[in-house]
Amino acid sequence: MLFFIDTADINEIRRALSWGICDGVTTNPSLVAKTEKSFSQIIDEILAEVDGPVSLEVTATDYETMMEQARTLHARGENVVVKLPMTPDGIRATRTCAEEGMQTNVTLVFSPTQALIAAKAGATYVSPFIGRLDDVAADGMSLLSDIVEIYQNHGFATQVLAASIRHPEHVADAARIGADVATIPIGVLEKLFRHPLTDVGLARFMEDAKRVPGLD
Ligand code: G3P
Repeated sequence: MLFFIDTADINEIRRALSWGICDGVTTNPSLVAKTEKSFSQIIDEILAEVDGPVSLEVTATDYETMMEQARTLHARGENVVVKLPMTPDGIRATRTCAEEGMQTNVTLVFSPTQALIAAKAGATYVSPFIGRLDDVAADGMSLLSDIVEIYQNHGFATQVLAASIRHPEHVADAARIGADVATIPIGVLEKLFRHPLTDVGLARFMEDAKRVPGLD
């Protein structure tokens, strides 16, 4: 299972890369806006340090402009994944991108049939938004499970990317269900390391080590 970091903040990306467990990056316009930097500067910063897939989202809603933006983004780096919305124009653009050899990530997916359409269009990744479904008292994990099952049943190559992850249990559930990727905010990534018994155990080992000659 791959871990992507869900941010446009280069410092958060650097921190995640330093741990050696981060395989790529996903961004969206809201995450980009938070940085208060230009999109172009953010792209330069990220692509200078990340070799893995980097999802960069188009902001157009019509097919022609989406394709112009997709080609411009793709030209910035081979590892750029063009992120496109789950709309008829977005799906048409996904198909064209696939034909032109561009990687794509279909975003804002909230139903199994949307995920089915994204796969049929040849998307590289599909992004079901787990947390946003949970927010409206729907079951994000059951959507993830449905998508994994549908893709397995029909042999789709599209990778299931669990997005809108809010806490470690989402990551564990996504792994259990068989998601190919989870894109995780830095705060949740940090929590994945933690367990109180690890802290207690480490403190005890350190204390005991002090009593052993040559082990301090
Ligand atoms: O990048 C898409 C997704 O991960 C957004 O998450 O927390 O804004 O629902 P969130």
